[in-house]
Amino acid sequence: MKIIIKKDYDAMGKEAAKYFAEVIRNKPNAVLGLATGSTPISTYKELIRLHEEESLDFSQVITFNLDEYLGLTDDHDQSYRYFMDINLFNHVNIKKGNTNVLSGVTDNPETECREFEEKIKTAGGINIQLLGVGGNGHIAFNEPGSPENSRTRVVDLTKETIKDNSRFFEKVENVPTQALSMGMGTILEAKKIVIIVNKESKAKAVAASIEGPATTDVPASVLQKHSDVIWVIDKGAASLLKDSS
Ligand code: GLP
Repeated sequence: MKIIIKKDYDAMGKEAAKYFAEVIRNKPNAVLGLATGSTPISTYKELIRLHEEESLDFSQVITFNLDEYLGLTDDHDQSYRYFMDINLFNHVNIKKGNTNVLSGVTDNPETECREFEEKIKTAGGINIQLLGVGGNGHIAFNEPGSPENSRTRVVDLTKETIKDNSRFFEKVENVPTQALSMGMGTILEAKKIVIIVNKESKAKAVAASIEGPATTDVPASVLQKHSDVIWVIDKGAASLLKDSS
Protein backbone atom coordinates (compact mmCIF):
# COMPACT_ATOMS: atom_id res chain seq x y z
CA MET A 1 0.00 0.00 0.00
CA LYS A 2 1.15 3.49 -0.78
CA ILE A 3 0.77 6.09 2.01
CA ILE A 4 0.73 9.79 1.13
CA ILE A 5 0.60 12.31 3.98
CA LYS A 6 -0.60 15.81 3.08
CA LYS A 7 -0.48 18.94 5.20
CA ASP A 8 -4.22 19.53 5.44
CA TYR A 9 -7.72 18.69 4.25
CA ASP A 10 -7.59 20.67 1.00
CA ALA A 11 -4.22 19.22 0.01
CA MET A 12 -5.61 15.74 0.72
CA GLY A 13 -8.56 16.41 -1.60
CA LYS A 14 -6.35 17.75 -4.39
CA GLU A 15 -4.08 14.71 -4.21
CA ALA A 16 -7.00 12.24 -4.23
CA ALA A 17 -8.72 14.00 -7.15
CA LYS A 18 -5.51 13.70 -9.18
CA TYR A 19 -5.85 9.89 -9.35
CA PHE A 20 -9.47 10.12 -10.47
CA ALA A 21 -8.63 12.70 -13.14
CA GLU A 22 -5.82 10.51 -14.43
CA VAL A 23 -8.14 7.50 -14.75
CA ILE A 24 -10.82 9.59 -16.52
CA ARG A 25 -8.30 11.14 -18.94
CA ASN A 26 -6.94 7.70 -19.84
CA LYS A 27 -10.40 6.14 -20.12
CA PRO A 28 -13.19 8.66 -20.82
CA ASN A 29 -15.87 6.06 -20.02
CA ALA A 30 -14.22 5.11 -16.72
CA VAL A 31 -16.29 3.54 -13.95
CA LEU A 32 -15.82 5.39 -10.66
CA GLY A 33 -16.77 4.18 -7.19
CA LEU A 34 -17.71 7.16 -5.03
CA ALA A 35 -18.09 7.88 -1.33
CA THR A 36 -19.99 10.28 0.89
CA GLY A 37 -19.45 11.84 4.33
CA SER A 38 -17.54 15.00 5.22
CA THR A 39 -14.18 13.59 4.07
CA PRO A 40 -14.67 13.55 0.26
CA ILE A 41 -15.95 17.12 -0.11
CA SER A 42 -12.51 18.64 -0.87
CA THR A 43 -11.87 15.85 -3.39
CA TYR A 44 -15.14 16.64 -5.18
CA LYS A 45 -14.36 20.38 -5.08
CA GLU A 46 -11.11 19.71 -6.87
CA LEU A 47 -12.80 17.45 -9.45
CA ILE A 48 -15.29 20.28 -10.13
CA ARG A 49 -12.38 22.72 -10.52
CA LEU A 50 -10.63 20.35 -12.91
CA HIS A 51 -13.85 20.12 -14.93
CA GLU A 52 -14.34 23.89 -15.03
CA GLU A 53 -10.75 24.99 -15.51
CA GLU A 54 -8.94 22.05 -17.06
CA SER A 55 -11.71 20.52 -19.18
CA LEU A 56 -11.98 17.24 -17.29
CA ASP A 57 -14.82 15.56 -19.15
CA PHE A 58 -17.42 13.48 -17.31
CA SER A 59 -19.75 13.00 -20.29
CA GLN A 60 -19.06 9.26 -20.58
CA VAL A 61 -18.18 8.54 -16.96
CA ILE A 62 -20.25 6.00 -15.00
CA THR A 63 -20.43 6.09 -11.20
CA PHE A 64 -21.49 3.75 -8.41
CA ASN A 65 -21.87 4.98 -4.85
CA LEU A 66 -20.87 2.90 -1.88
CA ASP A 67 -24.04 3.09 0.16
CA GLU A 68 -27.36 4.67 1.08
CA TYR A 69 -29.43 4.92 4.25
CA LEU A 70 -32.45 2.63 4.29
CA GLY A 71 -35.63 4.69 4.55
CA LEU A 72 -34.37 8.02 3.19
CA THR A 73 -35.84 9.30 -0.08
CA ASP A 74 -33.53 10.67 -2.81
CA ASP A 75 -34.56 14.23 -1.97
CA HIS A 76 -33.98 13.90 1.81
CA ASP A 77 -31.17 16.31 2.63
CA GLN A 78 -29.19 13.57 4.40
CA SER A 79 -29.62 10.94 1.68
CA TYR A 80 -26.42 10.07 -0.11
CA ARG A 81 -28.11 10.65 -3.50
CA TYR A 82 -28.83 14.24 -2.42
CA PHE A 83 -25.25 14.62 -1.15
CA MET A 84 -23.79 13.45 -4.47
CA ASP A 85 -26.05 15.73 -6.51
CA ILE A 86 -25.17 18.86 -4.56
CA ASN A 87 -21.48 18.12 -3.99
CA LEU A 88 -20.51 16.75 -7.40
CA PHE A 89 -23.03 15.64 -10.02
CA ASN A 90 -24.83 19.00 -10.43
CA HIS A 91 -21.50 20.73 -11.12
CA VAL A 92 -19.95 18.52 -13.81
CA ASN A 93 -21.17 17.28 -17.20
CA ILE A 94 -22.05 13.78 -16.04
CA LYS A 95 -25.26 12.18 -17.33
CA LYS A 96 -27.56 11.62 -14.36
CA GLY A 97 -28.53 8.27 -15.91
CA ASN A 98 -24.91 7.17 -15.54
CA THR A 99 -24.87 7.82 -11.78
CA ASN A 100 -25.87 4.85 -9.68
CA VAL A 101 -26.83 5.33 -6.04
CA LEU A 102 -28.74 2.57 -4.26
CA SER A 103 -32.34 3.51 -3.46
CA GLY A 104 -33.15 3.78 0.23
CA VAL A 105 -36.88 3.48 -0.34
CA THR A 106 -37.12 0.43 -2.55
CA ASP A 107 -39.88 -2.12 -1.82
CA ASN A 108 -37.39 -4.86 -2.30
CA PRO A 109 -33.90 -4.07 -0.96
CA GLU A 110 -32.54 -7.52 -1.83
CA THR A 111 -33.44 -7.09 -5.50
CA GLU A 112 -32.06 -3.53 -5.42
CA CYS A 113 -28.72 -4.85 -4.11
CA ARG A 114 -28.55 -7.73 -6.58
CA GLU A 115 -29.30 -5.46 -9.53
CA PHE A 116 -26.67 -2.97 -8.34
CA GLU A 117 -24.03 -5.72 -8.37
CA GLU A 118 -25.15 -6.78 -11.85
CA LYS A 119 -24.90 -3.19 -13.10
CA ILE A 120 -21.31 -2.93 -11.84
CA LYS A 121 -20.47 -6.14 -13.70
CA THR A 122 -22.17 -4.97 -16.90
CA ALA A 123 -20.23 -1.69 -16.72
CA GLY A 124 -17.02 -3.73 -16.66
CA GLY A 125 -16.17 -3.33 -12.96
CA ILE A 126 -14.98 -0.31 -11.00
CA ASN A 127 -11.76 1.27 -12.30
CA ILE A 128 -11.10 3.44 -9.26
CA GLN A 129 -12.86 3.48 -5.89
CA LEU A 130 -12.88 6.34 -3.40
CA LEU A 131 -13.21 5.38 0.27
CA GLY A 132 -13.45 7.15 3.59
CA VAL A 133 -13.13 5.50 7.00
CA GLY A 134 -15.49 5.50 9.95
CA GLY A 135 -14.15 5.97 13.48
CA ASN A 136 -14.38 2.21 14.05
CA GLY A 137 -12.56 1.44 10.79
CA HIS A 138 -15.67 0.80 8.72
CA ILE A 139 -15.61 1.31 4.98
CA ALA A 140 -18.88 2.09 3.17
CA PHE A 141 -21.25 0.71 5.80
CA ASN A 142 -19.29 -2.50 6.35
CA GLU A 143 -19.11 -2.53 10.11
CA PRO A 144 -16.51 -4.57 12.08
CA GLY A 145 -17.05 -8.28 11.47
CA SER A 146 -18.30 -7.82 7.89
CA PRO A 147 -17.10 -10.86 5.93
CA GLU A 148 -14.37 -10.31 3.36
CA ASN A 149 -16.50 -11.85 0.63
CA SER A 150 -19.67 -9.88 1.46
CA ARG A 151 -21.61 -8.33 -1.42
CA THR A 152 -24.02 -5.39 -1.65
CA ARG A 153 -26.66 -5.97 1.02
CA VAL A 154 -28.77 -4.54 3.82
CA VAL A 155 -26.71 -3.90 6.95
CA ASP A 156 -27.40 -2.84 10.53
CA LEU A 157 -25.44 0.20 11.70
CA THR A 158 -23.56 -0.01 15.00
CA LYS A 159 -24.38 2.33 17.88
CA GLU A 160 -21.01 4.03 17.34
CA THR A 161 -21.71 4.76 13.67
CA ILE A 162 -25.20 6.05 14.46
CA LYS A 163 -23.70 8.35 17.09
CA ASP A 164 -20.88 9.49 14.75
CA ASN A 165 -23.29 10.25 11.92
CA SER A 166 -25.85 11.96 14.17
CA ARG A 167 -23.88 15.20 13.65
CA PHE A 168 -25.62 15.47 10.27
CA PHE A 169 -29.13 14.97 11.68
CA GLU A 170 -31.28 17.06 14.01
CA LYS A 171 -31.25 14.36 16.67
CA VAL A 172 -29.74 10.89 17.02
CA GLU A 173 -33.22 9.29 16.82
CA ASN A 174 -33.48 10.53 13.24
CA VAL A 175 -30.42 8.57 12.05
CA PRO A 176 -31.53 5.47 10.12
CA THR A 177 -30.47 2.23 11.82
CA GLN A 178 -29.95 0.33 8.59
CA ALA A 179 -28.37 0.97 5.22
CA LEU A 180 -27.73 -0.63 1.85
CA SER A 181 -24.00 -1.03 1.35
CA MET A 182 -21.54 -2.39 -1.15
CA GLY A 183 -19.86 -5.41 0.42
CA MET A 184 -16.20 -5.91 1.31
CA GLY A 185 -15.93 -8.32 -1.64
CA THR A 186 -17.47 -5.74 -3.99
CA ILE A 187 -15.01 -3.06 -2.85
CA LEU A 188 -11.98 -5.36 -3.05
CA GLU A 189 -12.80 -6.05 -6.72
CA ALA A 190 -12.19 -2.40 -7.69
CA LYS A 191 -9.01 -2.17 -9.78
CA LYS A 192 -7.60 0.75 -7.82
CA ILE A 193 -8.59 2.13 -4.41
CA VAL A 194 -7.92 5.63 -3.04
CA ILE A 195 -8.73 5.94 0.63
CA ILE A 196 -8.85 9.41 2.17
CA VAL A 197 -8.78 10.25 5.86
CA ASN A 198 -8.37 13.49 7.76
CA LYS A 199 -8.50 14.55 11.42
CA GLU A 200 -6.80 13.20 14.51
CA SER A 201 -10.03 11.53 15.64
CA LYS A 202 -9.41 8.94 12.88
CA ALA A 203 -5.72 8.40 13.74
CA LYS A 204 -6.40 5.22 15.71
CA ALA A 205 -8.43 3.65 12.91
CA VAL A 206 -5.73 4.63 10.40
CA ALA A 207 -2.88 3.14 12.47
CA ALA A 208 -4.82 -0.09 13.06
CA SER A 209 -5.68 -0.35 9.36
CA ILE A 210 -2.17 0.28 8.05
CA GLU A 211 0.11 -1.10 10.76
CA GLY A 212 -2.12 -3.65 12.49
CA PRO A 213 -3.07 -7.12 11.22
CA ALA A 214 -5.53 -7.49 8.33
CA THR A 215 -8.68 -8.42 10.19
CA THR A 216 -12.41 -8.02 9.64
CA ASP A 217 -12.51 -6.47 13.15
CA VAL A 218 -11.09 -3.36 11.48
CA PRO A 219 -12.66 -3.43 7.99
CA ALA A 220 -10.22 -0.96 6.41
CA SER A 221 -7.28 -3.19 7.41
CA VAL A 222 -8.52 -5.81 4.93
CA LEU A 223 -7.40 -3.42 2.17
CA GLN A 224 -3.87 -4.69 2.90
CA LYS A 225 -4.86 -7.67 0.73
CA HIS A 226 -5.52 -5.48 -2.33
CA SER A 227 -2.67 -4.86 -4.77
CA ASP A 228 -3.33 -1.19 -5.60
CA VAL A 229 -4.36 0.92 -2.61
CA ILE A 230 -3.30 4.52 -2.02
CA TRP A 231 -3.94 6.09 1.40
CA VAL A 232 -4.12 9.88 1.17
CA ILE A 233 -4.27 11.24 4.69
CA ASP A 234 -3.64 14.49 6.50
CA LYS A 235 -1.13 15.00 9.32
CA GLY A 236 -3.75 14.55 12.04
CA ALA A 237 -4.95 11.20 10.67
CA ALA A 238 -1.29 10.10 10.33
CA SER A 239 -0.35 11.12 13.88
CA LEU A 240 -0.36 7.61 15.39
CA LEU A 241 1.53 5.88 12.59
CA LYS A 242 4.85 4.50 13.83
CA ASP A 243 6.38 4.89 10.41
CA SER A 244 5.18 8.06 8.73
CA SER A 245 8.32 8.71 6.68
C1 GLP B 1 -20.38 7.02 6.72
C2 GLP B 1 -20.16 6.45 5.34
C3 GLP B 1 -18.72 6.08 5.08
C4 GLP B 1 -17.82 7.22 5.51
C5 GLP B 1 -18.02 7.50 6.98
C6 GLP B 1 -17.10 8.59 7.50
O1 GLP B 1 -20.56 6.07 7.71
N1 GLP B 1 -20.99 5.31 5.10
O2 GLP B 1 -18.55 5.77 3.70
O3 GLP B 1 -16.49 6.91 5.25
O4 GLP B 1 -19.37 7.91 7.16
O5 GLP B 1 -17.71 9.84 7.41
P1 GLP B 1 -16.96 11.21 7.50
O6 GLP B 1 -16.22 11.36 6.22
O7 GLP B 1 -18.05 12.23 7.63
O8 GLP B 1 -16.08 11.14 8.68
